[in-house]
Amino acid sequence: MGGLCFLVLRTCLLSLLVTVSFAVDSISPSQSIREGSTLVSSDGSFELVSSVRCNPINDTSGELMINSTGNLVLLNQNKSVVWWASSVKSVQSTMVQLLDSGNLVLRDVTDGNSSGSYLWQSFDYPCDTLLQEMKMGWDLRTGLKRGLSAWKNSEDPCPGEFTYGIEMVDLHAYPEAYFWKGGAKYYRSGPWNGLRFSGAPDLRPNPIYSFHFVYNDDEVYYMYNLQSKSVISIMVLNGTTSTRDRLTWIEAEKIWMAYASVPRDFCDKYGLCGANANCIPGESPVCQCPQGFKPKSPEKWNLMDWSLGCVRNRPLNCEESDKAGFVKFTNLKLPDSTHSWVNNSMNIKDCRAKCLNNCSCMAYTSSDIREGGSGCAIWFGDLLDIRKFPDAGQDLCIRMSASELEEEDDGKVKTGIIVGVVTAVVFSGMLIGYYVYKRRTKLKETDKREGNQKNEGSQKEDLELPLFNISTIASATDNFSDDMKLGEGGFGPVYRGTLADGQEFAVKRLSRSSGQGFNELMNEITMIAKLQHRNLVKILGCCVQEEEKMLIYEYMPNRSLDNFIFDQTRGELLLDWPKRFHIICGIARGLLYLHQDSRLRIIHRDLKASNVLLDDDMNPKISDFGLARMLTGGDQTEGSTRRVVGTYGYMAPECAADGLFSVKSDVFSFGILVLEVISGRRNKGFYDSDHNHNLIGNAWRLWKEGRPLELIDTWLENSCNLSVVLRCIQVGLLCVQHHPEDRPSMASVVIMFGSEIALAQPKQPGYFTEKEHGAGPDNESSTNEISTSLWTLDKDGL
Ligand SMILES: *[C@@H]1O[C@H](CO)[C@@H](O)[C@H](O)[C@H]1NC(C)=O
Ligand SMILES: *[C@@H]1O[C@H](CO)[C@@H](O)[C@H](O)[C@H]1NC(C)=O
Ligand SMILES: *[C@@H]1O[C@H](CO)[C@@H](O)[C@H](O)[C@H]1NC(C)=O
Ligand SMILES: *[C@@H]1O[C@H](CO)[C@@H](O)[C@H](O)[C@H]1NC(C)=O
Ligand SMILES: *[C@@H]1O[C@H](CO)[C@@H](O)[C@H](O)[C@H]1NC(C)=O
Ligand SMILES: *[C@@H]1O[C@H](CO)[C@@H](O)[C@H](O)[C@H]1NC(C)=O
Ligand SMILES: *[C@@H]1O[C@H](CO)[C@@H](O)[C@H](O)[C@H]1NC(C)=O
Repeated sequence: MGGLCFLVLRTCLLSLLVTVSFAVDSISPSQSIREGSTLVSSDGSFELVSSVRCNPINDTSGELMINSTGNLVLLNQNKSVVWWASSVKSVQSTMVQLLDSGNLVLRDVTDGNSSGSYLWQSFDYPCDTLLQEMKMGWDLRTGLKRGLSAWKNSEDPCPGEFTYGIEMVDLHAYPEAYFWKGGAKYYRSGPWNGLRFSGAPDLRPNPIYSFHFVYNDDEVYYMYNLQSKSVISIMVLNGTTSTRDRLTWIEAEKIWMAYASVPRDFCDKYGLCGANANCIPGESPVCQCPQGFKPKSPEKWNLMDWSLGCVRNRPLNCEESDKAGFVKFTNLKLPDSTHSWVNNSMNIKDCRAKCLNNCSCMAYTSSDIREGGSGCAIWFGDLLDIRKFPDAGQDLCIRMSASELEEEDDGKVKTGIIVGVVTAVVFSGMLIGYYVYKRRTKLKETDKREGNQKNEGSQKEDLELPLFNISTIASATDNFSDDMKLGEGGFGPVYRGTLADGQEFAVKRLSRSSGQGFNELMNEITMIAKLQHRNLVKILGCCVQEEEKMLIYEYMPNRSLDNFIFDQTRGELLLDWPKRFHIICGIARGLLYLHQDSRLRIIHRDLKASNVLLDDDMNPKISDFGLARMLTGGDQTEGSTRRVVGTYGYMAPECAADGLFSVKSDVFSFGILVLEVISGRRNKGFYDSDHNHNLIGNAWRLWKEGRPLELIDTWLENSCNLSVVLRCIQVGLLCVQHHPEDRPSMASVVIMFGSEIALAQPKQPGYFTEKEHGAGPDNESSTNEISTSLWTLDKDGL
């Protein structure tokens, strides 16, 4: 059936309920629901809006009722049945009820209340929304499939081309969630490995909802449950944006916030790179043939047509299969499980042997059964839709011929040559690309900009970003005079400038040489300039000429946050608690945008008070985003970096120690910033000699001793809503926890600020430097060492 769409809306406004004076949550056989009356669940969370999804009743005559044989039916103006609930059995005495979960159920009144005994339930026929407790997947006993289908467009609720659901080839393969566009796969979640979907690293234990995946002979489904009544969160398929979003209601602002949307980037597009290729975000090009493979058609590949994918350098030779082995690739989304096989009682050794013994086996992986993993999986035929994750995903062992493995042992000379050749081929491919491009653009070349087309030529036409001439910038800044200098950032000095027409701007003169060529740098700048959010400083243009690289930003007369929060007089005068909270929330939002809402998924890597600018209305705007990426050669792999960028005092322990940057290291810096805004003290400058503490250490000590409010800047106390401040301190401490995986994501942080959801207890922060009583000398000296090195490095920072 499924023609009827019960769009069950969450009513968040009590006023709405007041107007529905005769709201009831159920109807019995003698009653019916007509235009003007409605069903409201007993706790007021849900209200029934019924319509036939593709064939609406045009007038007001529709009537939803239980007919004399106990069926739920919808009648039109002619009293003829236009829809009925396909109940599993016919029962005389039934009732319809809208439950507090949002489920509309038809049940036998003589029977109990247990959910298994519903004659029919709307949760079996989802439209575009998955509510908590709804099952997405299959009932293998009845063959019922519950999946989502997006609206055709924003006006037409009829199912459009996008659908989402769990697919399963058979019980001996991994189940996966697929997003379909028409008949074609559009995105997939990656196989369920017993713990999570391999391609959905964002799906982790979180404070908002718990989730589980049931996979047995009777049922296969995904389901989530909200952790708290105070948070409303749903999963919606949006046909307009072609995304599957998690929407969370932010009561304070009365908006739905979308996050964890998929597809999240280029590499999420199903099969973008073709068979056996790996999609690596941040690489250029994004599609790469793994070791042991080469492009099937190098010509097409070099023209960025990756559809044919990669083939083996040398075919597998089955006769010598005993000599063949595997190469392990890490942090992958596992291949499409369509041609795979799973055995959940096989360990990794047996798994390897199983793959080795079958010549058509291409790869295997194994996730530890003892930890809840689903054991051994092997793949046959081409490996489809693989991608790399910076800090998530799984290992995949891909079979290699013996000769390939030998070669690998042979040393690096050969590899060097191959890389050289490949680079040359790619490079010439790019030249051809540019030539064609030049020819095309030459015709419409317009030169509104001032001069300097000599060196870079027509490559600049590609930019939507205005290019400024160096002489314009120089004269607007009095030749970069000290009087015009606004400050010195991590990447170079910033000057104020005024154009001939009076427009003011700030220009950052990048001092570091970038590891990239001109084109890559321009590319990067253009992409970063496209990031626009009300909590990000806007990039107005750039100037790249020979050795000079400058970014032109909108001018913020109020300068940066550190000028206020660390200056008691100014802070007291201009930043009361509501403003500070507004600033904290704005920074969180801007960072969330960088991390997951923008197309690029930027890690800021140098978030600190001096990088948060304030506009006329004291709205915060993050600056210097993308610079780390721009200046370290497009590195966004969240892995280790060649050069450590960032400011000690804000830098997460894993970055200072190992150069490991991730979104969670930004979360750490954000946590520091929150504590600084509340305390009015710098993490790096504040040092409590009594307790041998820096700001985080002090905050942690006060928290443990149950006196967190002592952290608040003294004068602030008067203007504070103490419960909100307390919450902020707790969120700040959660953000600076030592282990990155313990820290919340920015999406969670935004929700924590915007709702009353219960917060976890923070664990010990990074750089906790307390001399613990009774701690052994080793322990003490090692903690001191960390802090000492931090203070030393600090001078080097900003
Ligand atoms: C309802 O309206 C649509 C378009 O306005 C029309 O095509 C359809 O025939 C109407 N249906 C009925 C039953 O009047
Ligand atoms: C009630 O509705 C069901 C489904 O349309 C139908 O099969 C049944 O005959 C109806 N009963 C009566 C008495 O009309
Ligand atoms: C209702 O009945 C009238 C008369 O039989 C018919 O003309 C009309 O098309 C019917 N309407 C619908 C929506 O079936
Ligand atoms: C069903 O549950 C409701 C509320 O929980 C209760 O009032 C009612 O008596 C129950 N009915 C049966 C048949 O158990
Ligand atoms: C889809 O997204 C657009 C743009 O964000 C939004 O306006 C629209 O309401 C969304 N539709 C649904 C069904 O959520
Ligand atoms: C799975 O592996 C176990 C242990 O190796 C074996 O006993 C079992 O038969 C296998 N199951 C299937 C379906 O191959
Ligand atoms: C290898 O695996 C394929 C696919 O499951 C199967 O059809 C074939 O019989 C297997 N071959 C051997 C030798 O086990």
